[in-house]
Amino acid sequence: MAKPRETREETHFGYETVPLADKQGMVDDVFHSVARRYDLMNDLMSGGLHRAWKDALVTAVHPPKSDRPFALLDVAGGTGDIAFRVAEAGGTGTRVTVCDINTDMLEVGEKRAHERGLDDRVSFAQGNAEELPYADKSFDCVTIAFGIRNVPRIDRALSEAHRVLRLGGHFLCLEFSSVDVPGLDALYELYSFRVIPRIGQVVAGDREAYQYLVESIRKFPKPKVFAAMMDEAGFRRVSYRAMTGGVVALHSGWKL
Ligand SMILES: C[S@@+](CC[C@H](N)C(=O)[O-])C[C@H]1O[C@@H](n2cnc3c(N)ncnc32)[C@H](O)[C@@H]1O
Repeated sequence: MAKPRETREETHFGYETVPLADKQGMVDDVFHSVARRYDLMNDLMSGGLHRAWKDALVTAVHPPKSDRPFALLDVAGGTGDIAFRVAEAGGTGTRVTVCDINTDMLEVGEKRAHERGLDDRVSFAQGNAEELPYADKSFDCVTIAFGIRNVPRIDRALSEAHRVLRLGGHFLCLEFSSVDVPGLDALYELYSFRVIPRIGQVVAGDREAYQYLVESIRKFPKPKVFAAMMDEAGFRRVSYRAMTGGVVALHSGWKL
């Protein structure tokens, strides 16, 4: 009898095809390498635009200004950018949990939270988006910004976000998308592949990490496909909004 062929699940790490089981380790190496320079790099690469994109996400989170309890989970929250913005926009009842797989990113985030006097409103925990260490229905809102394209099994991360949300809770995902404005697309391509890896080399000392980042953006599903994945995970009233000519999209879905 013929031996059954061994099946090895594969995925993309940037443009490379790699075993699914290897991707997370490779992603962790990238963020380990860039953690100390991560925030500076964001400003340099996006010309400060990431701040406006993140502000749009915070507006959509819409934390209450009052003392009403509001619990946000920021998955793949890294150095805390989204968490700080939401904590500062919300009232005294707002609490944010940053969950990220990478302790180097979390360490930078904890230090920044302390410097901002936000220790009591923002907490940091190590965890995998594919297997969140939280009970069902524990959060009013779940966000993930520029994180989901790094997660090997996106469908699992979406199901987990759905599981930990309370009924009526809001899921928001900010992610790079596809530029569809003639002229801007060619410019964006040139900038991504010629300039960003060079900035990565000079500022963060790691050209490859930033080559991965731009490649991973190109491999991320188109917004309509990602919206269908959100629907598949159980989210309702799924929608998205393109920003900056499609450089970024803000996806929204509800647990109803
Ligand atoms: C590009 S950074 C985004 C950080 C932050 N959300 C921001 O907007 O500045 C991507 C983050 O995803 C995290 N990450 C990658 N895979 C993850 C996983 N499986 N579970 C949780 N976090 C993950 C990385 O450690 C990294 O901190």
